[in-house]
Amino acid sequence: CTFTFFQFERTFIAIKPDGVQRGLISEIMSRFERKGFKLVAVKLVVPSKDFAQKHYHDLKERPFFNGLCDFLSSGPVLAMVWEGEGVIKYGRKLIGATDPQKSEPGTIRGDLAVVVGRNIIHGSDGPETAKDEINLWFKPEELVSYQSNSEKWVY
Ligand code: PPS
Repeated sequence: CTFTFFQFERTFIAIKPDGVQRGLISEIMSRFERKGFKLVAVKLVVPSKDFAQKHYHDLKERPFFNGLCDFLSSGPVLAMVWEGEGVIKYGRKLIGATDPQKSEPGTIRGDLAVVVGRNIIHGSDGPETAKDEINLWFKPEELVSYQSNSEKWVY
């Protein structure tokens, strides 16, 4: 018999220091979990400033770059990889618009944050960034491939 192994796409999601300090980890994780996405990696880390600059390298010309990197490296960050059909795009939908003043109620930022500089969560904005960010934050052996019991009821 032939097995075809199909893996859904993966995205990098991080709860930033403000989200961790405000005790929002379980609230945020449960939104991804209840949707039907699958957690395949997670760790709590305090990134160095140098690491934060690598993560946000695309933004180095922006006026807020330095402050943003200081902020990301100011405390524990919950780094995660979530897997599922359409998780990159839909993850961004769950998160809501960058500026919490513009994010819809019902989204993570819309419900839980007020200003852009403290918007509690990051999510990869496309397939290329997702790949790069997963590789930056995780070693390949830290990603866990498994069949979850509920999967056959989600798909
Ligand atoms: S932009 O302006 O289009 O580049 O913005 P965007 O791509 O949506 O955001 C990129 C990341 O920069 C953060 N950001 C800011 N931080 C602090 N101050 C200001 N003014 C600001 N504007 C954008 C924004 O939250 C994005 O970070 P992540 O971690 O991806 O949310």
